[in-house]
Amino acid sequence: MTEPSPIDLVGSMTAYQQSALIGTAVETGLADVLAAGPATLDELLAELGTDRRGTMALLAGLAGFGLVERDGEKFALTPQGALLGRDHPDSVAQIVLKEWFFYRLWADLPDAVRTGHAQTGPWRERLENDPPQAESFLRALDDLCTLFGGELPGLAAVDGPGTLLDVGGGAGSHAANLVKANPGLEATVLDLPGAEPVLKERHPGLDFVAGDFEKPRFGRPEAEQWDYVLVANILHDHPAERNRHLVAEAASLVKPGGSLIVYEWVIDPGRTGPEGVAKFTAMMVVENEGGWTWTEQEIGDWITAAGLEPQPMNRGNGPIAVIRGLKPPERPTR
Ligand SMILES: C[S@@+](CC[C@H](N)C(=O)[O-])C[C@H]1O[C@@H](n2cnc3c(N)ncnc32)[C@H](O)[C@@H]1O
Repeated sequence: MTEPSPIDLVGSMTAYQQSALIGTAVETGLADVLAAGPATLDELLAELGTDRRGTMALLAGLAGFGLVERDGEKFALTPQGALLGRDHPDSVAQIVLKEWFFYRLWADLPDAVRTGHAQTGPWRERLENDPPQAESFLRALDDLCTLFGGELPGLAAVDGPGTLLDVGGGAGSHAANLVKANPGLEATVLDLPGAEPVLKERHPGLDFVAGDFEKPRFGRPEAEQWDYVLVANILHDHPAERNRHLVAEAASLVKPGGSLIVYEWVIDPGRTGPEGVAKFTAMMVVENEGGWTWTEQEIGDWITAAGLEPQPMNRGNGPIAVIRGLKPPERPTR
């Protein structure tokens, strides 16, 4: 057993300072100004219109965390700090803005713990009331998929050509990865109408259909069925009864012989592991009314109730795993 360390615990508690410095570097535009080239404090103040003492404090803090360096009167981003610039090919700026949004909500975690209520509105409200914020969020999810979502094609057992519907597919990140790995696969993303602009910006090769989880078959016509229906990162946004319904509607869109692919943060039965999923659970409670992480058994039960055959979970190295549900092929009629 490791010795208790007051110093480590205090270090964990003050980690918020690093998050705030990074969030502020992106929100104020300092990272973008420095990404254009080294600048003096006076040049930064002229460009950003910020306070001299505050800006110097921000630069000092970022230097302390190895994201900024000073050479004489000029300040510059280090190679790690350069990733904060929006135009860097590996930019994490959108992800920083998403986490910065949550940084403020997480300050109300005690409220979420006491009441069980989310600290922000549902996706529909966010997309309708604040499109720039919701679109920035969808871009962040796409960037997160680029960083961490590469495992899905290896876990999903999609094989060659066919049709795929990515339900609540957002920017289309996962559908795009599956198409790349399976030439001939035709993928369509179904989401609320507000998601379309980001999909068209990020993955213009994918088709988009407006749909709604609230509607039977998500609003798709009666006869329409797909070889694969992907439900990626959706079930953690909703409570159990709603998920039973979502999985049933998704299953109704699968062709006989086809499969439902649930890509989800699956928690262990004891609900304290794997580490990444356990940590993610609080995020769901803060973000979504009824949000939660589900076990393999819970997801499997919804798949079974929908008339599909759940397959054993396929977990890669990351926290997100695949559970497939197979729809039995149609029996030939005599
Ligand atoms: C957590 S994001 C997941 C996005 C994507 N599947 C991924 O894994 O990155 C949830 C998605 O569900 C969509 N969504 C939320 N409510 C919806 C509804 N009522 N009908 C259709 N899509 C909805 C959101 O717009 C968003 O794209």
